[in-house]
Amino acid sequence: PFSKLTSQPNDPLLQLITAFSEDPRPHKIDLGVGVFRDALGLTPVMRAIKAAEERLLASQKSKSYLGPEGDKGFVKAIAALLFGSSLPDRFIDGIQTPGGTGALRLAAELLVRSGVKRIFLASPTWANHNAIFRQVGLEIIAIPCFDIINQSFNLAGFIDTLATASSGDAVLLHGCCHNPLGIDPTPDEWGIIAQHIAKLNLLPLIDIAYQGLGSGWSEDAFGLQTVLAAAPFGILTYSCDKNFGLYRERTGAVYVTSPDQEQLDCILSNILCLARTNWSMPPDHGAALVRLILEDKELTHLWRTELEEMRRRTLSLREDLARLGQVGHINLAPLTQGKGMFATLPLSPNQVEWLRSQHAIYMAHSGRINIAGFRDGDVERFGTALKSLIAA
Ligand code: LMR
Repeated sequence: PFSKLTSQPNDPLLQLITAFSEDPRPHKIDLGVGVFRDALGLTPVMRAIKAAEERLLASQKSKSYLGPEGDKGFVKAIAALLFGSSLPDRFIDGIQTPGGTGALRLAAELLVRSGVKRIFLASPTWANHNAIFRQVGLEIIAIPCFDIINQSFNLAGFIDTLATASSGDAVLLHGCCHNPLGIDPTPDEWGIIAQHIAKLNLLPLIDIAYQGLGSGWSEDAFGLQTVLAAAPFGILTYSCDKNFGLYRERTGAVYVTSPDQEQLDCILSNILCLARTNWSMPPDHGAALVRLILEDKELTHLWRTELEEMRRRTLSLREDLARLGQVGHINLAPLTQGKGMFATLPLSPNQVEWLRSQHAIYMAHSGRINIAGFRDGDVERFGTALKSLIAA
C-alpha cells in the first residue's frame, strides 16, 4: 500500500541538533535551531516555570480530559497580554494548541475550509510556514521585500506585491522578531501595512512566537494590534516555546478576531472541529504552568524579569556582532537594528558548510544565525572564522 511513497529528507534545521551533538570538537558553536541559550550555552528551565511546576505538582487533583479548547484560563491570560484593551471593536476568542505549529496548522486548515485559496507572505519566512500552507493546498505567493546585505525591510516592495492580491486572500505576517531575518516593520510601517490590508480586504494571519524578546512585551504586540484593529477579521497564532522556554511541552494558541459575536461563534465552532480531528485535545502541562504564572503577581514578576534578562542578552550580543563591522561583503554593523534571536547573513550554503567543517560553527543553510547561541568569547571566534572564510 505504500509503494507510491518516496523517501523524504529529514528536516534540515532539526537535523542540525543531532549533527551538533555528535560533533566531538570542544570549541563548536551552535547557531542552528532557535533555542534561547545563556552565556554558557545552556537552556535552563525558567525560574518561574520551575516554581509553577512545584505548585502544579502540589495542587493538581486530576488529569481527566479538559476538551478540545484546552486550558481556558491559559487562553484568557495570553489574550489579555496580547490584546489588552487595544481592540474595543473586535470580538476575540481562541483555543489552546499543541505549540505554535499546531496553531498554524489549524489556521491553515481553517483558511481552506473558508474557501481561501492564496496566502501572501514576505519571503524568506520560517521554512515550516511554507511547508504547512503547501500541505493544506494553499497557493503561496512570496513577497520578496528584504535586503539582506543592508538588513532592511523594503516597505514599498512589500506593498507593491500585496497590491496584486484579491479580496479574500490571506496574508501572513510575523508579529515581531521575524524568523529568519530579525527585521521587523517600524510602528509607522505597521500602520501603512494595516491600512493596505484593510483597503484590499485581505485576511491577516499573524504568527507571533517571540513576544517579549524584541522591543519589550507590549511593544512587540503593537504591530499585531494595529493590523487586527484595521481588518474586520484576523487570525493570530501564538507560541510559548521561547518566551516561556517551554519548547518540548508544545504550548501555543490560536485566536480569531471578528466584528460580531455571531460570526466569531461560527468560526470558533469550526476551529473546535478541526482541533478534535487533529489532536482531540492539546497537551496540558505547559499551558497549566503559563496560566499559574500569569494568574499570580509574584510569578508574573519573576517570569517578566527573566524574559527581560533574555531580551537584553540578545541585544548585547547584537552589539558585539555589530562591532565586527564589515567582513568582506558581510556587514554586521546593522545587526543592532534587528530584533529577537535571529539574523540572516549573506552566506551561500557552501560557505555555511565551510564554516561548519572548518570551524565547527553550525547555522541554518540559509545563513540564519541564532544570536542567543553565542557563548562568552564565541563572537570573537566567529569574527575570525568569517575573516578566514572571506580570505579562503
Ligand atoms: C526555529 O526556527 O529554529 C525554531 O522555531 C524551531 C523550529 O521548529 O523550527
